[in-house]
Amino acid sequence: MATEPVIEVKASAKQPLGMSAAAFMRDYWQKRPLLIRGAFPSFQLPMSGNDLAGLACEDGVLARIVAFDRKRDRWHVENGPFPEDRFLHMGKRDWTLLVQDVDRWDADVAKLLASFAFLPRWRIDDIMVSFAAPGGSVGAHVDHYDVFLLQGQGQRHWAIDARPGAPLGTREDAPIKLLEIFSASHDWVLDPGDMLYLPPGVPHHGVAVDACLTFSIGMRAPSVGELLVAWAEERGRELGDTRRYSDPDQRAVSEPGLVDGAGIARVRSVLASALTADDAELANFFGRFLSTYRLADTAPRKVRAITEGSIAARLKKGRGLVPSPSVRLNFIEHPEGTRLFGAGEALDLTRAAASACTRGAPIDASWWDAASSADHAGVRAAVERGWMVFA
Ligand code: SIN
Ligand code: CO
Repeated sequence: MATEPVIEVKASAKQPLGMSAAAFMRDYWQKRPLLIRGAFPSFQLPMSGNDLAGLACEDGVLARIVAFDRKRDRWHVENGPFPEDRFLHMGKRDWTLLVQDVDRWDADVAKLLASFAFLPRWRIDDIMVSFAAPGGSVGAHVDHYDVFLLQGQGQRHWAIDARPGAPLGTREDAPIKLLEIFSASHDWVLDPGDMLYLPPGVPHHGVAVDACLTFSIGMRAPSVGELLVAWAEERGRELGDTRRYSDPDQRAVSEPGLVDGAGIARVRSVLASALTADDAELANFFGRFLSTYRLADTAPRKVRAITEGSIAARLKKGRGLVPSPSVRLNFIEHPEGTRLFGAGEALDLTRAAASACTRGAPIDASWWDAASSADHAGVRAAVERGWMVFA
């Protein structure tokens, strides 16, 4: 008899997910929650609460403070960036500072992503980091994407409702999305290094036991609506005004005001054929689409010439090449080769060069020395576009 997968596992050095990545994907990914004790054993904090507060004061950083006023049963949200002195007079309890996209700003936080290399990189949206005072929480809510909640420092109490059909109605009276009704089916206190995986739509409520830092590795799932709008816009631009509704089979009518079923059927078929794409067209669209996602810098970049000799020299000095924090890179295979996308543009290069630019580890001198001259040319083109920068 098949047994239901467990909801709590203990990680080991060989299996940080408490099981193989294949078993995790088969049994849990997008299906059911999993608490992994000791997923990051002897976890080294990549940043402190003070670092996070500093980041929350910088321009262009997405930061929020969420506070709960127990006496008045009221939630408050304040959006950053914050003035430097904002954190001097914080209350002792019941507030959380949350900063999104921290992997873009902090290379040590970005290194955490290496542990999630069993997932396609484009499926990972960002690492959000929260610092909470004791009692701090963003309330009971659901997210529309998968998330790995890694406890970094201190303890957090997590309650979740893993039952199918859990109520998802939201409260109207709060400035953040909160569930009207939440009752827990499971709850745990997480210690540093413990990690809770939640698929989309699982109600959860985290409350800081003591001052704590939580790293949320959030997934990206484009909504069908946004995909459709982007695809239709691209197709519409390509088609222009040339292709038109046509009806050589139209008969004489007795009710000129009526749009009849035959007319609707013709519209359906025109739209369906306009939106259909072959694999190559769709891959080109999707790669570009992914590379311009939220906050990624889509302003046309100046191409700045650089020689391969100068790249090699800097790598020799120990400076690695990493993707620019404001660009999202991904690549596709097409019949003629490999195409890298960044900031909405495409670059044809070798598979090895594309892989090196997106593998999550810096390109270093030893990679460069072992690479072919075609690989060098590909990396140089990515540097010239500003997609890859020296760390
Ligand atoms: C938090 O870090 O406080 C909230 C994370 C979440 O619930 O998604
Ligand atoms: Co959440």
